[in-house]
Amino acid sequence: MSKVTVIGAGNVGATCANVLVFNKIADTVVMLDVKQGVAEGKAIDMLQTAQTLGFETNLIGVTNDYAATADSDVIVVTSGIPRKPGMTREELIGTNANIVKSVVSQCLAYSPDAVFVIISNPMDTMTYLTLKATGLPKNKVIGMGGALDSSRFKYYLSQALKANPAEVEGLVIGGHGDTTMIPLKRLATYNGTPVSGLLDTAALDKVVADTMVGGATLTGLLGTSAWYAPGAAGAYVVASIVNNYRRLIPSCVYLEGEYGQSDICIGVPAIIGRNGVEAIVDVKLNDEEKALFEKSADAVRKTNEVLKEIGAL
Ligand SMILES: NC(=O)c1ccc[n+]([C@@H]2O[C@H](COP(=O)([O-])OP(=O)(O)OC[C@H]3O[C@@H](n4cnc5c(N)ncnc54)[C@H](O)[C@@H]3O)[C@@H](O)[C@H]2O)c1
Repeated sequence: MSKVTVIGAGNVGATCANVLVFNKIADTVVMLDVKQGVAEGKAIDMLQTAQTLGFETNLIGVTNDYAATADSDVIVVTSGIPRKPGMTREELIGTNANIVKSVVSQCLAYSPDAVFVIISNPMDTMTYLTLKATGLPKNKVIGMGGALDSSRFKYYLSQALKANPAEVEGLVIGGHGDTTMIPLKRLATYNGTPVSGLLDTAALDKVVADTMVGGATLTGLLGTSAWYAPGAAGAYVVASIVNNYRRLIPSCVYLEGEYGQSDICIGVPAIIGRNGVEAIVDVKLNDEEKALFEKSADAVRKTNEVLKEIGAL
């Protein structure tokens, strides 16, 4: 029996919960929000699709009732403010650090063995904050950003190739920021064929550039940050944990020397299973990719330093 809690029943949290129940990924899903009645209302709305869509998952919505989250296997943290057009993810840090720190400690009191999946932005820094503030073992704290950024990379690749998206593969590593993420164009494939042989340099560089501002593009269109792909990407990570699928997912994890970095949470390919981060996969980067990764880590570290300045760590 698996139980998953989603903190924050806003756009991303509710979408994630909806994918979890619709795809029967967990036996019980709890949505918790600070806004009175919102999680309850969304849970009832989703449950009223159970017969038409054909699922029997136990779904509960609660307002700040952490006792209802007790003994969760996985806790997904989406609470906080999203960015508005023109904002960077990093600008959310002041508000979201306090929210993330407070909800994580309340969850831990009821689910000491849970694996945490952090989605709130700036995600790399919120993942680092969760790890440092709780003292949890590093395998138990995973930031979700690479799964989403990679799905955006695959989308833009499939558009450029006019290909079936299901046959396109690509990884995005590094920080989850417009200027810090690194779509690994050298390793992207279309049904096993390197895309570098199928798209010219200009087309491939455009795919990379579009991927990097993929979130900002949607924020500009929607007036707030996107939720369908982020919610689904969160559920994809959760499924790998509760079902021990051991998917290779670029995820924000704590590094201790891997990829030449230490004391940082940043996106690298990781095997995600029942214990959370089961292993970090060492993809051999070339010199150009290594330099980009180092630059990305420097930027993430700079945002992490703000945690001390605002007294969150
Ligand atoms: N990591 C990613 O890939 C990714 C992708 C998209 C969005 N995000 C981030 O996810 C977060 C949520 O985005 P959204 O679009 O769902 O925002 P939203 O405003 O729709 O939802 C956030 C919810 O959090 C709730 N909340 C706030 N403080 C809370 C608290 N203390 N306890 C419980 N709930 C609380 C709010 O009431 C709201 O319902 C943002 O920080 C956004 O930037 C991350």
